Amino acid sequence: MTDFTATRAAFHLPEGMIYLDGNSLGPLPNSAAARVAQTMTAEWGDHLITGWNACGWMDMPARLGDRIGRLIGAEPGHVVVGDTLSIKVFQALAAAIKLNPDRRVILSDTGNFPSDLYMAEGLISLLGSEYELRLVAPEDVEAAITDEIAVTLITEVDYRTGRKHDMATLTARAHANGVVTIWDLAHSAGALPVDLAGAKADFAVGCTYKYLNGGPGAPAFIYVSPRHADTALPALSGWLGHDSPFAFDLGYTPGAGIARMRVGTPPIVQMAALDAALDAWDDVDMEDVRTRSIELSDRFIAGVEATCPDLTLASPRDATQRGSQVSFRFADGYAAMQALIAHKVIGDFRAPDIMRFGFTPLYIDESDVDAAIEILGRIMRDRLWDTPEFKQRKAVT
Ligand SMILES: Cc1ncc(COP(=O)(O)O)c(C=O)c1O
Repeated sequence: MTDFTATRAAFHLPEGMIYLDGNSLGPLPNSAAARVAQTMTAEWGDHLITGWNACGWMDMPARLGDRIGRLIGAEPGHVVVGDTLSIKVFQALAAAIKLNPDRRVILSDTGNFPSDLYMAEGLISLLGSEYELRLVAPEDVEAAITDEIAVTLITEVDYRTGRKHDMATLTARAHANGVVTIWDLAHSAGALPVDLAGAKADFAVGCTYKYLNGGPGAPAFIYVSPRHADTALPALSGWLGHDSPFAFDLGYTPGAGIARMRVGTPPIVQMAALDAALDAWDDVDMEDVRTRSIELSDRFIAGVEATCPDLTLASPRDATQRGSQVSFRFADGYAAMQALIAHKVIGDFRAPDIMRFGFTPLYIDESDVDAAIEILGRIMRDRLWDTPEFKQRKAVT
C-alpha cells in the first residue's frame, strides 16, 4: 500500500498554498535542489569532461527511461529520455509513418494538444502533399480507424477536459486494420496506470514536468515497442543515436533498439532534477494513485457542484472515463482562476472557458480539496473575480 504521507513529505509546497496544477507543472521535490547542486559541483565541477564516463552521464537517458518505463507498463530497455515532447512526437510520427509506407493518412482528434497537430503538419510539409492529417471528434476516433489510416496520433487524456481514451481498445482496432499507434502520455504518465506492453502500443511519448515533477522544461521520453525497436528509423538521426557515436563515421547507422531515438547531448543538470523527482515514485503503486485520484476528483466535483451553480462540469462524470484532472466551464473562467490564484489556490485556464484542476495524490489530500472548494465557492458567490485586474490576460494562462 502506497504511503501518501511519505510522498507528500517529499515535496516542497509553499505554506498556505493549495496546488491543483501538478497536471501542468509538478512541485519541487525536496531532494532535487541538493541533487542538482551535487551534479553541478561534485560532478561537473570536479570531473569536467570526464564526468561523461565517471559520473554515468551518458547512461542517464536510458536509466531514467527505465525508471519511467516502470510507471507506464513498458518493457525494460524500451524507453529513453531526451529533447522536448514536441520533438519526440515528430520523431515517433516520422518513424511510424515509415513503417506503413503504402498509406498516407495520419489520424488524430480535435481534443489533441495543438503542438502534436502542428508537428504532424510540419512533417507532412516535408513528406509531400499526398499525405493528410485527418482530425475527427474524440468520440469518433474508433470508427475512423480503418485500413486507410497509416498512423494514429492520439493523446490518451485530453488536456482540456481530462476525457480518457481507451488505449487497449483503440490499439487493438488499429492493429486489426494494419495501423501503427502513437500514444501521447503527457497527461497519463504518473497520473494513472498505463500498460503499454499489455495494450501492445507501438510508440508512446510523454513529458516529465507534469505528474512526474521533473521541473520546468524537464526532458521528454519516448517508447518504442520491442516489435519495432530495431526497425523504426528515428528521422532525427543525431550522433548520439548512432550505433557508434565515437567512431565519428561520416554516414549514419542507427543504434541498437531504443538507443537510436537519442538525438544529441543530454541535458545532465535537468536530468539530475528528474532523477531526484523519480525517487518519490520508488514505492508508489499506480493502482493506489488511481484510487486516491478518483476519490479526490469525485470529492471536488461534488463539492464544487454543491457550492458553485454557475460552473458546469466539462470533464466526464464517470471517473473511469477521466484522467487525473477535473475541468469546469465558466464564461469568465479566466478571471475566476486569477481570483482563485490570488487566494492561493492554484489551477489554470484553457481557452475558451475551461478552469482546470489537477489531482495528484502524491502531495494532495482531502483537506486541500475541501479548502479549495470553500475558497472557490466564496469567489463565485461574492463575484470576487469580477474586477478589471483579474480580467487582464497574462502570457501564460
Ligand atoms: C499532450 C501534449 N502534447 C505535447 C505537448 C508539448 O510539450 P512540449 O512543450 O514539452 O514540447 C504538451 C504540453 O503541455 C501536451 O500537453
